[in-house]
Amino acid sequence: MIKPIKPIQPNDPNESNEGTKPKGISAADRAARAFRKRFGMEPAQVASAPGRVNLIGEHVDYTEGIVLPFAIDPRAAIAIGPSTDHQSTFVAEDLAASVTYPGPPSVVPDPSPAHRFANHLLGVLHAAGGTDGRTLNILVASDIPIGAGLSSSAAVEVALGAALAAWLDRPTNPHALARQAQIAEHDFVGTPCGIMDMLISAAGIAGHAIRIDCRDLQLTPVAMPRPEEAEVLIVDSGVTHRLSDGGYADRRASCERVQTILAGSLRDASLESLCDSRISDRDRTRATHVIEENARVNAAVAALETGDLSLLGEILLDGHRSLRQLFEVSIPELDCIVDTAAELRGDGCFGARMTGGGFGGSALLLVATTAVESVRKTVEQRFASTYGRTPTSMTVRACQGVRIES
Ligand code: GLA
Repeated sequence: MIKPIKPIQPNDPNESNEGTKPKGISAADRAARAFRKRFGMEPAQVASAPGRVNLIGEHVDYTEGIVLPFAIDPRAAIAIGPSTDHQSTFVAEDLAASVTYPGPPSVVPDPSPAHRFANHLLGVLHAAGGTDGRTLNILVASDIPIGAGLSSSAAVEVALGAALAAWLDRPTNPHALARQAQIAEHDFVGTPCGIMDMLISAAGIAGHAIRIDCRDLQLTPVAMPRPEEAEVLIVDSGVTHRLSDGGYADRRASCERVQTILAGSLRDASLESLCDSRISDRDRTRATHVIEENARVNAAVAALETGDLSLLGEILLDGHRSLRQLFEVSIPELDCIVDTAAELRGDGCFGARMTGGGFGGSALLLVATTAVESVRKTVEQRFASTYGRTPTSMTVRACQGVRIES
C-alpha cells in the first residue's frame, strides 16, 4: 500500500535537527504569499523540497551504481490551487517568468525558450498522469541557487509532485515522486540524468546522508558527522552549468557503450574486464572512474560509520582526482578550490571534492567545525587572487526531504 506523505507541522520535533535555515522568510512562505497576491486566493496546497549535495558517488547513478547524497536547505517551494478563469498559469517568482495556457495544461513540452521553466512543471504533470482535467495555477519560489550544482530543478519537480498529489488526494511516495521528476527531466527538459537528485530530494533525512543503491533503489541512512565535530562547507565556483548542454550526455554515452560491449552493467564490471580491445581508450578511462567510484562510496560509508573523518577526507580527494583526470568533468575553478582545501589538510580541512554533474557548480569541503571560518577565508582568498572574484560559500547540514507545508 502506497502511503501519502505526512504533512509536517512547523514545530514538528523531527525538525529540530534540521540543517542550516535560509535567513528570513522561507521559500514556502514566499510561494504562498506570492500565490495569494497573484491569484487572489489561498493556495490549496504548498509543498517544499530540498536541494542536495552529493557526498560521493559521482556519475554512477545512471549505471546502477551507489551514491551517497544528502538533502540540504535551501529549498524550493510550490503553491498550487484551482484556477477560476478556465486557464492555467505558472509563475516562477524568482525568474520573474510566467506562462498561461488555455484550459488544463496540455502535457507536451513547451517549445518556447522563454517558457523553459514551465517544462519542469509540465513534465511532472504529465508523469503524474495529468490534472484530472482541472485547470490550475502554480507558483514556484526557490532559495536554491540555479546552476550551482545543488539540484534546483529536481527540488522544484519533487515539490510539485507532492503538492499535486496532496491537492488531488492521490497516494504517493518518495520513489514515485523521484520517478516523475526524472521523466520530466528526460522527456520535457532534455537532461538524461540519473535518479539521485530527485530521490534524495524526496527521501532526505535530517542528520543523515542516504546510501542509494541505484540498481534496486534501496535507501540506507548513514549518520553524518555531529555538527560540533565537522561541517560541510559548499563553495560555489560561480560557473553555471546546464546538464542539457552535451558534456553530461557524452559521459553517459561512453558508459553505455562499455556496458553494451561487456553485455552487462558497469556495477558488475571489474577493471580487468575493461581490457577488452573493443573499448576505446577514452571510454575505458571513464569506465575506470565508475568502477572505482562505486568502491569509494562503500569505503566512505565505512569511514562515516567508524567516525574516521581523516580517511573520509582522503576518499573525497581521491574522488575529485578521478573526476578531474579520468572522467574529465571538473573545471579549473573547482580544482583551485579543492587544491587549496587539500593544502589545508593539517589545518582542519579533512578533504574536498567537486559535487554534482560538473562542468561548473560547487565543491564541498569537509572541515572540522572549529576551523570552518579559517578554511573558508583561505579558500576564498586563493580563489579571489586567481579569478578576481570572491566565491559564494555556505555551510550545509543534512535535512529532511520533501514535505507538505499546509
Ligand atoms: C547530475 C545528475 C545526476 C548525477 C550527477 C552526477 O546531478 O542529475 O543524476 O548523474 O549529475 O553524479
